[in-house]
Amino acid sequence: MIPFGIIMLAFIASVGTVLQNYHRISRKNPHWLAPAVSTIAGIVAGALFIGALAPSPAPAAVAALQTPRIVAGQGVPTSVNMGMAGAPISVTQLQAPATAAHVDHFTLTVQPGQLTLGSGITVPAWTFDGTAPGPTLRVRRGDEIVVTLVNHLSFGVTIHWHGVRVPNSADGVAGVTQDAVKPGQTYVYRFIALDAGTYWYHSHQFSFEETTNGLYGMLIVDPATPTLHADVDYSVALHVWDGPNNQTVYTMNTTGGTLNQIARSGQWVRLRIVNTAETPSGNPQLVTLVGAPFQVVSLDGHDLNGPQWLNGTPLPIGSAQRYDLYFQMPSHGSVALVTADDSQSYVRAPALVMGQGSVPTRLPAITKWFDLTTYGTPAPDPITLQSHFDATYNIVLGNQLGTSLGRMGMTYTMNGKVFPNTGMIMVKKGQLIKLHFDNQTNLYHPMHLHGHVFTVLDQNGKPLTGSPVRQDTVLVPPHATYDVAFVANNPGIWMLHCHNFLHANWGMDMMVMYDVSTPYAVGSASGNFPD
Ligand code: C2O
Ligand code: CU
Repeated sequence: MIPFGIIMLAFIASVGTVLQNYHRISRKNPHWLAPAVSTIAGIVAGALFIGALAPSPAPAAVAALQTPRIVAGQGVPTSVNMGMAGAPISVTQLQAPATAAHVDHFTLTVQPGQLTLGSGITVPAWTFDGTAPGPTLRVRRGDEIVVTLVNHLSFGVTIHWHGVRVPNSADGVAGVTQDAVKPGQTYVYRFIALDAGTYWYHSHQFSFEETTNGLYGMLIVDPATPTLHADVDYSVALHVWDGPNNQTVYTMNTTGGTLNQIARSGQWVRLRIVNTAETPSGNPQLVTLVGAPFQVVSLDGHDLNGPQWLNGTPLPIGSAQRYDLYFQMPSHGSVALVTADDSQSYVRAPALVMGQGSVPTRLPAITKWFDLTTYGTPAPDPITLQSHFDATYNIVLGNQLGTSLGRMGMTYTMNGKVFPNTGMIMVKKGQLIKLHFDNQTNLYHPMHLHGHVFTVLDQNGKPLTGSPVRQDTVLVPPHATYDVAFVANNPGIWMLHCHNFLHANWGMDMMVMYDVSTPYAVGSASGNFPD
């Protein structure tokens, strides 16, 4: 009787698990596993899980995360070396100078965790130090940063310092600048914080699975002397989770509900916002501030010149982008940061409330989006459309059904190809390089370049009319073009990819290459898969 009951339970749970897997695959196509393998794994996992629970039924189960897994197979490269064979220098030699007045040491331990995002909403996660976002690392410009990564997960991880001009050996790209750090192992990242601003970190091994499931945190670099007076300096990471019952849970830091932060009337606030996720639609996260006029004082950590005051302007934040807002607390009442859901109206949760109060019951309608091409005040900039470019690369962003790393499905292409067949952008130290992004899809593509900061030159051929804008991730809207330019001043092998994790996972990655070799390789032999 009892064994029969257990079998029945196992069967029911298996069906549930399979449906769960089916849902995840259909929504995000996340895995290297063929759906059939995944289904079988689901049945086995479901049976084992219930088998374990059967003696003492436990409260509502949360679906376990699927461990990123590498399968060899047709179209999966065994070993692709991204470097230049015979190059004069190797990635491993591109290290931070060993001289800095001040050194900041951190240890980050990756480990499994359970996150409570709201009442009754608990999700399994992979975390830095048990939380997601992981600890905020706060340092001063010019400091040397030494971070020891300890891996207590059962699969490989890395840390990429998003937007930070690190030496190549510290870039954290599995298969390019290092091997993924294996379970039980440690790895040390060392770099100088060259630029002040708002940055973040995340795993760059299976970055789609690992970052969306919690391996991210913030890095804030303060200037040597403050450029802006802030009484309150607060940071918010916007994330999206697969919650119980297939619901999508949007969070600010650790909650899908209301975050509260103390701020008194008259105080000046710097609010740093990073989008660490992607929305189910792949559209940017839309946020605004209710209760006070505000300025956008920096984008991707880089200050804007002469920012104007805005009132309730919707801010589109592409995956990986950062916006720093600046405002003064009103003489009474609170200020709220709210987000819009994918159907494009503001919602009351998650939200941040600063000062005494709660999220307003009436939220504004969405008005014309913030436009970085017209915002702020012009200023001289070393890189302009009139500059002499040593090379210009056209990059057509496309999507089509096809095969990527052995999987069939919707692929996301650069010049019609998927990674690792996308080719390279060859640069020499000192060159000024222009990139022309031509988005021929109906989707947004937040395009990110590692190790460099680029200047945004124009959108759809129209030059910027406001402040110079420097970013590491430019949000290219559907059927739009963007021109950006960067000085090749940081030798190495650097990824250039869409920061919509799904798009990167399905092909939209390439390398910017400085005649550098690497001892590492991407593929099933090493198990390194950067996206
Ligand atoms: Cu946020 Cu390739 O990075
Ligand atoms: Cu994309």
